[in-house]
Amino acid sequence: MAFSDLFSSIGSLFSGGRAAAVGIDIGSSSVKIVQIHKEKGAAVLDTYGSLAIGPYVENAEIGQYTNASEEVLHTVLTALIKEAQITATSVCVSIPFHSSLISLIDVPPLSDEKIAQVIPFEAKRYIPVPLEDVSIDWFVVPKALLDRDDMSLFHKDKPTAMPAKEEKRKVLLIAIHNHELLKHKNILSRTELNTKYFEIEIFSTLRSSVYETRLPIILIDIGARTTKFYIVDHGIILRSLFINQGGQSITQAIVHAENIPFKEAEHKKRELGFDIPDKNTKEAMALVTDEMFSEANNAIVDFEQRYHRSISKIVLTGGGAVMKGILEEAKKKTNIAVEMANPFGRLRHPAFLSDALKESGSEFAVAVGSAMRALNE
Ligand SMILES: Nc1ncnc2c1ncn2[C@@H]1O[C@H](COP(=O)(O)OP(=O)(O)OP(=O)(O)O)[C@@H](O)[C@H]1O
Ligand SMILES: [Mg+2]
Repeated sequence: MAFSDLFSSIGSLFSGGRAAAVGIDIGSSSVKIVQIHKEKGAAVLDTYGSLAIGPYVENAEIGQYTNASEEVLHTVLTALIKEAQITATSVCVSIPFHSSLISLIDVPPLSDEKIAQVIPFEAKRYIPVPLEDVSIDWFVVPKALLDRDDMSLFHKDKPTAMPAKEEKRKVLLIAIHNHELLKHKNILSRTELNTKYFEIEIFSTLRSSVYETRLPIILIDIGARTTKFYIVDHGIILRSLFINQGGQSITQAIVHAENIPFKEAEHKKRELGFDIPDKNTKEAMALVTDEMFSEANNAIVDFEQRYHRSISKIVLTGGGAVMKGILEEAKKKTNIAVEMANPFGRLRHPAFLSDALKESGSEFAVAVGSAMRALNE
């Protein structure tokens, strides 16, 4: 992937007149957009792009976390829509994980209708802020789900059978801060786009990047500001957490080790990754990734002890997963199979793009999954 902003418009050509949809991921360092359309039942990639926010704010660079205002984010998004030649208007926008709460909770053995009535009361016990500050959604986990291979977490409308025994039932409780929803609504409302859905980023990522759901995995999203960890089994998020260390922390490590400006360090990181020649710099970078993967190890051990199942693999996503050598670091530090997410893998796209999309597509895991949601529902 090119160091600078990435645009690849391969076919506003392709989408003319057909049902098309857009996914948008407003990250802490860059905005990502993907447009797809449906053709003979298959999803086809039209165009995609990302634009760094850093250059639009004071004292920030490409790759750097920015606490950008709605105004700035609107400007960046508008520029991206233009550059990526977005033509569709039906959109799903992702909401960052850190402004949400995802929790698998136990509720009494009641029917789905009764559960709907008790959730607001149960939710109070799990949500550490006043309920009027959040928007709540939930999903009753079918009892059979953890034992079966063929059920999808996302069949929300299907009523689930009552459990045979008087067992507690599991509910995936999801809460999003209203201020974050409002922020995203405000940014989008000034564009021509029609936002059909808001979705927490992990649900988008699962849709685009996790195809095999029978065995438990840990998905690690290495963003700019944070690294997020999700343990997922049969499509259900059993555990989620994040640390305030991300790709930006690796760049900062290079800044300090080599006493060079952020811009230069970011460039070096993207060019060389762990192939960076200086031994001290490499060690400084490894301190950051050590922290990431020891957090992953803690989550894995905790899961395995609690559920008596092994994590089958690590799936790396986010822009930080593109870094040279990070896959090997992850393998070395965790002793588990590691693969890089390939969110474009299920979209039809021109063959000449395959290698580039495979190598660096993980940055778009959220945006691709959002676009899929907007296309299919
Ligand atoms: N080729 C590359 N090599 C190394 N790092 C890279 C590469 N491309 C992008 N990155 C890093 O990925 C990070 C950005 O990833 P991403 O776009 O997923 O973050 P974000 O979504 O903006 O952040 P967050 O998810 O934390 O809000 C930056 O730290 C950037 O330096
Ligand atoms: Mg992100």
